[in-house]
Amino acid sequence: QKRIVVLLSGSGSNLQALIDATQSGRIQGRIVAVISNKPDVKGLERAQDAGIAALLLDHKGFDSREAFDDALQQLIDRQAPDLIILAGFMRILTAGFVRHYLGRMLNIHPSLLPKYKGLHTHQRAIDAGDSEHGCTVHFVTPELDGGPLILQASVPVEAGTSADQLQQQVLKCEHHIYPLAVEWFCAGRLSLTTTGVTLDGIQLPASGQR
Ligand code: GAR
Repeated sequence: QKRIVVLLSGSGSNLQALIDATQSGRIQGRIVAVISNKPDVKGLERAQDAGIAALLLDHKGFDSREAFDDALQQLIDRQAPDLIILAGFMRILTAGFVRHYLGRMLNIHPSLLPKYKGLHTHQRAIDAGDSEHGCTVHFVTPELDGGPLILQASVPVEAGTSADQLQQQVLKCEHHIYPLAVEWFCAGRLSLTTTGVTLDGIQLPASGQR
């Protein structure tokens, strides 16, 4: 059983999908703590309801990004995790922090990376007139939303769709592919190598749509 720490800043619907997949035994791992940088979020409530340690580390209490990331690293390392999962964690992480967890930190991003790094991905996909949009699970590297891809899922963008509707459709995809990637990682099937990502020792495609 791998020890998993989840970082989030909000609703935690991806956390819920992961809780469900650990409880069903599909993921060979246990979420040992959930850490939020924001107080009173639904994600912390979901953790508590599942009997998981729900911890708050409010970034507002820190003078610098480095000071916050140092404190966060200490809090995480106290849990001795095998895997760190970013699930709607809306903070840019320092390179030192990211390097410390290289090869054992995953993120989900609401776009078909390398398209639309950063924020407001759904509106940007609509504005660009894209015919499809989706989400990506990737290993975290110091480049923001730039780490090697593990899995993507897409939905068609219907004419007249709003950003909110598209977000709901993409979230459903996220709840499918994030537990699958975590299942692979916890089964020891997924690795970050110098050339990219391997699944069962087989190299995955280096990038999404370019
Ligand atoms: C998800 O759509 C996730 O992809 C996105 O935040 C949402 C969190 O939803 N993450 C990012 O934008 C990271 N840059 P949730 O709290 O319901 O899981």
